[in-house]
Amino acid sequence: MARLGTESAFEVLARAKALERQGKEIVHLEIGEPDFDTPEHIRDAAKRALDTGATHYGPSAGLPELRVAIARHITATRGTPVTPEEVVVTPGAKPIMFFTIMALVNRGDEVVYPNPGFPIYESVVNFVGGVPVPIPLLEETGFGFDLRLFEQRVSRKTKLIIVNSPQNPTGGVLARSEIERVAEIARSLRIPVLSDEIYRDFLYDGEFVSLLSLPGMREHAILLDGFSKSFAMTGWRLGYGVMPPPLAEHLTRLMVNSNSCTASFSQLAGIAALEGDQTPTKRMVAEFKRRRDLVVEGLNRLPGVSCRSPRGAFYVFPNIQKLGRKSAEVADRLLREAGVAVLPGTAFGEHGEGYLRLSYATSEANLRKALDRMAPVLARLGS
Ligand SMILES: Cc1ncc(COP(=O)(O)O)c(C=O)c1O
Repeated sequence: MARLGTESAFEVLARAKALERQGKEIVHLEIGEPDFDTPEHIRDAAKRALDTGATHYGPSAGLPELRVAIARHITATRGTPVTPEEVVVTPGAKPIMFFTIMALVNRGDEVVYPNPGFPIYESVVNFVGGVPVPIPLLEETGFGFDLRLFEQRVSRKTKLIIVNSPQNPTGGVLARSEIERVAEIARSLRIPVLSDEIYRDFLYDGEFVSLLSLPGMREHAILLDGFSKSFAMTGWRLGYGVMPPPLAEHLTRLMVNSNSCTASFSQLAGIAALEGDQTPTKRMVAEFKRRRDLVVEGLNRLPGVSCRSPRGAFYVFPNIQKLGRKSAEVADRLLREAGVAVLPGTAFGEHGEGYLRLSYATSEANLRKALDRMAPVLARLGS
């Protein structure tokens, strides 16, 4: 258990809530979830499902009709034909990373993954006794992969490569050339790649390239996606993986042993999400783009801060190196002195030092308030 890490967003949220109980007013920029409500037609589908008996256990890999809908959705959005047998439905997308690492990584096996990156990758690799091999993401390239290092660090010992684009925490999006190079190396060394595409819909500029769509990657790719972000369904716990059928069988067995199945009425709501009106998602993404521009502009006016405009997700990753302070100290002072909850870049790995992560999945009024309150604290920290 000592090797298992955590996700600091939940810890900072708890500290912020404790301050709120003492009467402090906090602006929450720490947690990564859309502030939008789940669209009405999806909520209606869940209500209907509850009223018509979808309150029982279902198959461990997911309801057949949802697996069909997901296979269709992935076929359409990734441009490669996917069958329902390749789909495993889980409570949220997070179990796909946990189960994939459990299934593929033995003690001593190496896993190459982005750093700064979603902290659960490294945590679970450590948990199973694997060896995390971080690939630094470089601000100069819009937080792309350092391909030179990637090529040096992938070896015969590598049993899994993890990529995430659009990225948490940087908002970076991997270029086609980067994804193609990762795929080429994975194919030649026959290494599976977990492609975390949960922020696929939150892409503001340029093209989205799915690893799954590249030639020859079907046998090597595990796609992770879900409903939490695209349909503002974080609390419903509904996600999925798409992978070669032998691995899908292993993940299904892990589901039998842990969850039995994902909630049946959530799954039926998921069909409505995939097959229903996509306007609410488009509207939400357009609003996030506006907020991105507002927050990037505001951050670049703050003392000691410089911030690139990220191409995706709903996070910014401002550089605070000019302040000459540790990220953790800056985040802590912003919480205590400005009442603004943000995460230190180091919550996403050692290469996050010198950065903060802010989620802009909150109202424009909150973002403006946060920026106003941060200014004097950062001025004090930098002097
Ligand atoms: C990169 C990344 N992958 C996966 C997830 C997990 O999403 P879910 O809520 O569906 O488990 C998150 C959630 O924050 C994420 O940021």
